[in-house]
Amino acid sequence: MTILVTGSAGFIGSHLCAALLQRGHVVVGVDAFTDFYDPQVKRANIASLSLDPHFTLIEVDLGAADLDTLLVGVETIVHLAGDPGVSTSWGQSFDRYVQRNILITQQLLEAACRQGVQRFVFASSSSVYGSGAGGLQARNEPRPTSPYGVTKLAAEKLVGAYEHSSDLKTVSLRYFSVYGPRQRPDMAAHRFIEAMLDDRPVEVFGDGRQVRDFTYVCDIVDATVNAIHADLPTAAVLDVASGQPVDVSTLIFHLRSLLRPDVELKHHEERRGDVARTAGRITAAQRHLGWRPTIDLRTGLEYQIEWHRQRRNLVQAQVLPQPVIMAAGQAER
Ligand SMILES: NC(=O)c1ccc[n+]([C@@H]2O[C@H](COP(=O)([O-])OP(=O)(O)OC[C@H]3O[C@@H](n4cnc5c(N)ncnc54)[C@H](O)[C@@H]3O)[C@@H](O)[C@H]2O)c1
Repeated sequence: MTILVTGSAGFIGSHLCAALLQRGHVVVGVDAFTDFYDPQVKRANIASLSLDPHFTLIEVDLGAADLDTLLVGVETIVHLAGDPGVSTSWGQSFDRYVQRNILITQQLLEAACRQGVQRFVFASSSSVYGSGAGGLQARNEPRPTSPYGVTKLAAEKLVGAYEHSSDLKTVSLRYFSVYGPRQRPDMAAHRFIEAMLDDRPVEVFGDGRQVRDFTYVCDIVDATVNAIHADLPTAAVLDVASGQPVDVSTLIFHLRSLLRPDVELKHHEERRGDVARTAGRITAAQRHLGWRPTIDLRTGLEYQIEWHRQRRNLVQAQVLPQPVIMAAGQAER
């Protein structure tokens, strides 16, 4: 099966491509190497993939690509490309979020229908919930509190609308706070680990009592791979999370005990759009995807720390000029 993965050089995309190749698929990766963070980091993410004869990388912005040509022979699209991040989606940047997260998704859906693509798997986000996730109400209701969350919810709705009006089978997976090797440099665990390895104070936004459902990247990848083949309800939308939410102070507690018990914490005001709590409800994903999360937070953090250390060793040994490649533990399954 030929699978097109957009955002293939990113944190999640690079792990997903490796997993698909290992399962014998032909993978076409598309990435524009945007400057949301250092594009060299993304090049390092996929350096090992380019050696695989079943992997083709197409370096193009989806907004400028000939999508029909791109989709010839493609049976499934996994659409990860987009601008992530809650706090950066305000103000002037919103135009870019609309373009990369909504308009491009719609253009890709149109082309997918024209080209007879069978399945469209969309990377949505817990940010669609805003303050609606993990509360006491019986159901999690989307109430985004950031422009980013709004763009992800709009894209989800588009994905569903195209399934209702065509033969395309779709699923939106709401990923929750993904961590692990190659995590984006703007994300909490990455920043905390780097600070501790440098013996710098750890900068924490808010009081540390915000609850997050931290989910290990290989569990995210496994759920996404299963979504490619699973028998799903029409226009399915599923939470993909660890199901074990903890507060940020617990994340710091684990990192301190693994790395630097005496590290200083510097608290800053919480960032605009951050919510008090996210907690995924994973029974539907477990049922429909035949999946369950397998990596607990402490083990996953150990793998991520190992990746940060290896990356530093390679840079120090001048084997590589830039932060690099290697995934720890099960990251390259
Ligand atoms: N990491 C998380 O915790 C998390 C949580 C929820 C949802 N998500 C979603 O999952 C997806 C992947 O996230 P990630 O953390 O791997 O982010 P990432 O930034 O590492 O990866 C996204 C990739 O998409 C590429 N891209 C962006 N716009 C593009 C365009 N127009 N054309 C081609 N390529 C483009 C970027 O260059 C980048 O390599 C995103 O859609 C994100 O919103 C991530």
